[in-house]
Amino acid sequence: MPENNMDKPKIVTCTAPVNIAVVKYWGKRNEELILPINSSLSVTLHQDQLKTTTTVATSRSFQEDRIWLNGKEEDITHPRLQSCLREIRRLARKRRNDGDPSVDSTGLSHKVHICSVNNFPTAAGLASSAAGFACLVYTLARVFGVEGELSGIARQGSGSACRSMYGGFVQWIMGDKDDGKDSLAQQVEPQTHWPELRILVLVASAERKPVGSTSGMQTSVQTSCLLKHRAQSVVPERMVEMIDAVRRKDFPAFAELTMKDSNQFHATCLDTYPPIFYLSSVSHQVISLVHRYNKHYGETRVAYTFDAGPNAVIFTLEQHVSEIVQVVQHFFPPDTNGEDFIKGLPVSRAPLSEELKRGIGLEPMAKGINYIISTKAGPGPCVVEDPTQHLLSSDGLPKKTV
Ligand code: DP6
Repeated sequence: MPENNMDKPKIVTCTAPVNIAVVKYWGKRNEELILPINSSLSVTLHQDQLKTTTTVATSRSFQEDRIWLNGKEEDITHPRLQSCLREIRRLARKRRNDGDPSVDSTGLSHKVHICSVNNFPTAAGLASSAAGFACLVYTLARVFGVEGELSGIARQGSGSACRSMYGGFVQWIMGDKDDGKDSLAQQVEPQTHWPELRILVLVASAERKPVGSTSGMQTSVQTSCLLKHRAQSVVPERMVEMIDAVRRKDFPAFAELTMKDSNQFHATCLDTYPPIFYLSSVSHQVISLVHRYNKHYGETRVAYTFDAGPNAVIFTLEQHVSEIVQVVQHFFPPDTNGEDFIKGLPVSRAPLSEELKRGIGLEPMAKGINYIISTKAGPGPCVVEDPTQHLLSSDGLPKKTV
């Protein structure tokens, strides 16, 4: 091979999705390997609305590993980044030693340049570490020609990231081995399984920066006996019921389990000492709104779930989306005239009946919600074949547009 070709970087770009847990992961039994105290289950959100894109380049000419996140160079020595890099390189070496021809053995000793961006604002407070680490691990694996099970490596970047390695409905089986080899994600159903299911992300106007999940769950494990009870006696049965509700596409059962699990997670936060508050007054109003809406119709048509922040994620079926969006817009009158209020999948506009407004009977809360992202279940990580989409140029540095 001519000298200049040897120096040309190998560049791969991939995308990965965000996921939202309906049975929450909260608490580790091993901090370093990121092993959870309970199994969890999530829905992978569609990448048309929310995704991370990552480009990885390797070249003999690179002096050191480097990473740029959302346009800014970050510290590559971060222990979780190092775990993912080390594990992928270890797997690649193992495969090469086992004689796997797909492993690019020349590139194994090369340094990597990584560049990653989200298509949604970080300021929106949406969990981006899951999509970020899933995308990093998936892209690194492609660069080094590593195939097969990768969720165990993504898990070591961020626990919830292991579930972003698959599309549709995904469980993270907690496992019981000390080395974590059996703590892996597994697809329960693909994204095509429940096409009527719709997801609305209600981006709340944040009041303050909440406690991060990593330190929050540490304090919960140390102090909350409710968390212990939840992990030992509630989640195991709930996982079985949730998987069954998803498989049967039983919306009321799915919705009730989702809301109860979100509520119990936030109850464990309150049971943590000192307590952690992730829900805001806006979140509380969303909870009331959902229960009053369901009560008005005498059936469970909509469900909420909240992670470590005030944003609500709403589940419903396609036939109710339009009305629910109108209801949210009525009870959280936005700053804008509504056009910018709803992003993502198109939502048709239907007039809201006076009877429904009266039935809900809440006092509107102006500007509580900045905007709604309308989406659905989507696929797992993908390779971007179009080289014009690479975030790094052939010199291995971020393109000016990134
Ligand atoms: C509330 O995966 O962000 O979103 O493993 O420490 O990186 P680390 O935590 P992280 O925690 C997510 C917590 C959650 C629930 C969930 O996604 O299951």
